[in-house]
Amino acid sequence: MGDPFVLRPATLADSAFLLALRNDPDTVANSLVRRPASPEEHTTWLARAFADSDTHLYILEHQGTSLGMGRLVMCHEDAELSLAVMPQYRGTGWGKFIIVALRAEASRLGARTLSAVALGTNVNSLRAFLSCGFHIDDRTVRLACDLFA
Ligand SMILES: CC(C)(COP(=O)(O)OP(=O)(O)OC[C@H]1O[C@@H](n2cnc3c(N)ncnc32)[C@H](O)[C@@H]1OP(=O)(O)O)[C@@H](O)C(=O)NCCC(=O)NCCS
Repeated sequence: MGDPFVLRPATLADSAFLLALRNDPDTVANSLVRRPASPEEHTTWLARAFADSDTHLYILEHQGTSLGMGRLVMCHEDAELSLAVMPQYRGTGWGKFIIVALRAEASRLGARTLSAVALGTNVNSLRAFLSCGFHIDDRTVRLACDLFA
């Protein structure tokens, strides 16, 4: 019997699941934009993601149930990883599972470095990344401004 948990490429059929995960209150609070996405924004975002050969979306699935998602965005030899796990499945290792699997996937896609952006207050995310071999890169500072305020 094979591993019953799979990380598979996302398809259009995952749109509703991805929107639910995107608009989960903790995901919103820990995102850089800090607001939910409307269905229209989500549809546009997903269409762009599927059209962009540098963006790779994955669904963590168990026996037909979607548990979480991961995304790799390639930029030359760099890859950026982001992820989210459905609230009811958090705290049991799935975040780390996605990170480890996508670290290998980024390497397979040709990346030489892999990075992630997390809010300093997102303790679960920081712990997950630090547990999986990431370190805090204090050579860089991320600057941002809100354009929708
Ligand atoms: C961040 C996130 C993806 C982590 O996924 P997860 O499946 O909950 O994480 P894991 O179970 O693999 O655990 C990661 C670490 O946080 C700890 N942790 C996570 N949730 C916890 C909880 N509810 N209670 C206690 N500890 C928790 C784990 O013990 C682990 O730390 P350790 O390696 O030091 O033991 C998930 O919390 C999430 O989807 N959050 C909302 C979206 C988000 O913040 N995405 C990341 C943006 S950078």
